[in-house]
Amino acid sequence: MNVAIAPSPQVKVWDLPLRLFHWCLVAACGTALVSGFLLNANWLSLHIWAGGFILALLGARMVWGLTGPTYARFRNFTLAPSTAIAHVKDILNGTVHREGGHNPLGAWMVTFFFIALTLVCLSGLGLLGGMFKQGPLKAYLSFATGGLLREPHELLAWLVLMLVAAHIGGVVFESIRSRENLARAMVTGKKVKGFIPAAHDFAARPTLALAIIAVAGAAIGWAAISANALPAWGVRQVTANSAWQEECGDCHMAFHPTLLPATSWQGIMTSLDDHFGEDASLPASTAAAISDYLRANSAETSDSLAANVFRKMSETRPLEITQTPFWLRRHEHIPEATFKAAPVNSRQNCAACHGDATAGTFAPQSISIPKETVK
Ligand code: HEC
Ligand code: HEC
Repeated sequence: MNVAIAPSPQVKVWDLPLRLFHWCLVAACGTALVSGFLLNANWLSLHIWAGGFILALLGARMVWGLTGPTYARFRNFTLAPSTAIAHVKDILNGTVHREGGHNPLGAWMVTFFFIALTLVCLSGLGLLGGMFKQGPLKAYLSFATGGLLREPHELLAWLVLMLVAAHIGGVVFESIRSRENLARAMVTGKKVKGFIPAAHDFAARPTLALAIIAVAGAAIGWAAISANALPAWGVRQVTANSAWQEECGDCHMAFHPTLLPATSWQGIMTSLDDHFGEDASLPASTAAAISDYLRANSAETSDSLAANVFRKMSETRPLEITQTPFWLRRHEHIPEATFKAAPVNSRQNCAACHGDATAGTFAPQSISIPKETVK
């Protein structure tokens, strides 16, 4: 027997730009969530790029919501509480109304999702600028202000994760209820005929959309690049001092002055004859000059990440960077053998793993533990 299945007549609902936006957003959110929750500091660059891409996508979607075709327009998002309540009642009664665009709960979900995503990206930018002194906000935010955004950024990321789960759950639920694969509709753009059409019809205005995106994109891009070129808030540029470099860089790397508070430097410089078991004494005038230099550029004078975290010394061993609670915590997962083996050789050889150690920056992107040299 030969049964011919007539294809159900389908109508285009989701336009190509909207579908592209949707799947790019899926990829960017996936990348940002995985790199943020599961991967270590080395992946920070990827995380930042994903966040920036999400902001750009949201911006383009805002424009398309005002200029796109019928189902892309925000005017057709039904956000009236009464429609949402009616939709919940339909679900409870088992009544199925297939919608051309988002159903009332879906429209709420998408709106929440866009707001949460915008906030998570902006808090991330603030965190990056304040704590890591990177990105377009680095000139405007202190370490402390950036630090205030840390928990909100994480909480918002959890909220985004929950909204993603709710969205997938909702799509599966409505697909089963309405017997139409809504995820596939977001790929093909088509839905089976017979749904409730949108309240307002609109023609797309792609030229206008492109013009707005080009002008706004260029303006925001220019502002971001200019702001990124400004000096970071509170981070002083320390000029190297040749006596310090020579005398203190002899046995170990010359530790950047912003890595210890003034009292610790004072303690080190007044006990050079018994310097961690070594005699590192210097002529009085040289020692005085180095001491002045170190204290004038100590941790208290800078707002960099390293200066902020190394200001809290261990009470029992107030002279060692590698005995600060922060240092111990952040390096506890590194095996002793890695520190001992060449080419690292010691904990004090910060520059072996931190490409920017001599500048005192210690950015997460510059961390790379070198491979052990085979003897
Ligand atoms: C004669 C060699 C020698 C010279 C010169 C020297 N140091 Fe050291 N320094 C050491 C040794 C050895 C240690 C202990 C490292 C260890 O614990 O293995 C140390 C440790 C330190 C530490 C603590 C590092 C940590 O583990 O947190 C600081 C800070 C420090 N030195 C600063 C200086 C300064 C400032 C000068 C220049 C005035 C200087 N050192 C010159 C040998 C030297
Ligand atoms: C064997 C390699 C190695 C050495 C040597 C080393 N570090 Fe690190 N450091 C790391 C790694 C890996 C991390 C990242 C830990 C993580 O993923 O949280 C780190 C993290 C840090 C951070 C936090 C960076 C951030 O942005 O979150 C600072 C600051 C830091 N180290 C300072 C130092 C200083 C100062 C020294 C020298 C006294 C030093 N490190 C020596 C490997 C090293």
